[in-house]
Amino acid sequence: MTPQLSSWWRNAAIYQVYPRSFQDTNGDGEGDLQGVISRLDYLKSLGIDAIWLSPFYTSPNNDGGYDVANPRNVDPRFGTLSDAEELIRAAHNKGLKIIVDIVPNHFSTEHEWFKEALADPPGSQARSRFHFYDGRGESGEIPPNNWCSIFGGPAWSRVTESDGTAGQWYLHLFDSTQADLNWENSDVHEDFEKTLRFWLDKGVDGFRIDVAHGLAKEEILKDHRDPEGLTRALRLDVSDMPRHERESLLSDVPFFDREGVHEIYRQWRKVFDSYPGERMSVAEAWVHPSSRATRYVRSDELHQIFNFDFLIAEWSAEFLRSAIDKTLNEVSEVQAPPTWVLCNHDSPRLVSRLGGGDLGAKKARAMALLTHALPGGIYIFQGEELGLEDANLPDEVRQDPVFFRTKGADKGRDGARVPIPWRADDENFRFTTGKPWLPMPPQWSEMSVESQTQESGSFLNLYRKSLSIRAKHPALKQKNSIDVSLEISWIPTQAGVLAFERKPGFTLIANCNDFSCDVEISGEILLASQPGVTQKDGVTTLPAHTTCWINRTP
Ligand code: NOJ
Ligand code: CA
Repeated sequence: MTPQLSSWWRNAAIYQVYPRSFQDTNGDGEGDLQGVISRLDYLKSLGIDAIWLSPFYTSPNNDGGYDVANPRNVDPRFGTLSDAEELIRAAHNKGLKIIVDIVPNHFSTEHEWFKEALADPPGSQARSRFHFYDGRGESGEIPPNNWCSIFGGPAWSRVTESDGTAGQWYLHLFDSTQADLNWENSDVHEDFEKTLRFWLDKGVDGFRIDVAHGLAKEEILKDHRDPEGLTRALRLDVSDMPRHERESLLSDVPFFDREGVHEIYRQWRKVFDSYPGERMSVAEAWVHPSSRATRYVRSDELHQIFNFDFLIAEWSAEFLRSAIDKTLNEVSEVQAPPTWVLCNHDSPRLVSRLGGGDLGAKKARAMALLTHALPGGIYIFQGEELGLEDANLPDEVRQDPVFFRTKGADKGRDGARVPIPWRADDENFRFTTGKPWLPMPPQWSEMSVESQTQESGSFLNLYRKSLSIRAKHPALKQKNSIDVSLEISWIPTQAGVLAFERKPGFTLIANCNDFSCDVEISGEILLASQPGVTQKDGVTTLPAHTTCWINRTP
């Protein structure tokens, strides 16, 4: 069996750019595509291989552009189609590949299809591209079923018909301005194929597939036994739900991970494979149990799937070791490459999640070095390399629909989406000459790219060094093992410490304890997440919460 993807992609370091918060070039306070072009040298200097761009398509921007009104055009806030072409060209000239987002579960209610659906009567072809149904109750005042939106509130909204009467309901698993598409309608298939080809023709190297597990729905006219519980179970930030209850609810979600999605990806795969070069795809699929995720990366489907185990991982040796083993074993079964994700635009930033402050930063640095030494691909969210924390934002500036739909009970994801501080010599850190769309914490001066470039022990320089060693060391650099689970061998050590070897000549030790530890392994120290790692008589002493990389020639 041929493995999914060449070794180049299997081991790539992919950097997520959230364009709105990366670099503004026209002073409107929002990042744009010209801004990404202007920072390509920075991205190259990090040592990454590819860039994943979050959506920059025409959109009212009710959900950070994941509410797409025209997937084959660029929203003016980000620039023009020719800026996108220029960005693809410029990245390629620097040897960086480009992955773009595709959002197939829903369209914005500003998409022309939705406008047509509103203008046409119930039962029309235009309506059947979405999930429109009559309501229940005497005058249709009760939604077709009791599902809840993942962003809070009901998953259905009622439209006003053209004669002014209250009309049908449409399904939206996310915001009410994100209408779910009906993948049983052939127009939907054709339109998405057109979009894939549109961007492939422009030279993109791959797609990140939003809500890849959501496209097919079942039992759409049936009530769920516990719709609110289900929404809570789907949310990672809800921690007070008993495990068995969560697992029971997630074992069968009528709108996620249905069999029907796989045929769609088999068709898409044919499209990717028909293009020259190696065009790849990575699925965002939150499925349960997570072992089902490998079904998305069978040899005739998609190429990679985000592994979110580390997105919620604790800094605990036992937890991490079992997550690593589980992941490597699962993907090996389908010969797919593992991926590792520490944070993204939907989750708290790594340092914050690990407790914030100096301790959070220490753990985050150690966690990053552990991640960068694992076999497979890594995804880095912009600002992760700077060790940024979530910004504390006043409610008045929040923009995430999650905040509004939960009536503020859930603060939403804006804290992780604050613009990047480039240089400390200006109030807005050279992100914009205008007013940033989310305020930037004044205390970020020391965190700016410029300040961290000057300081050899900075977070940024740690990432630069680890990515550079990862690309060169014979044990870490591009490999093409079919069975990745054989790529690491655990070395027995004391509780709270992880140690593994990768051949030839690489050993990692991670001390997850809050005290220093002596480990009977030694060799040339290549990199450490903290200063203070020492060696004597074949023993390496690691301070608390520290990972180090060791070169050991047998
Ligand atoms: C996942 C995206 O990453 C997130 O930002 C978005 O809100 C939802 N999908 C809905 O598209
Ligand atoms: Ca701008």
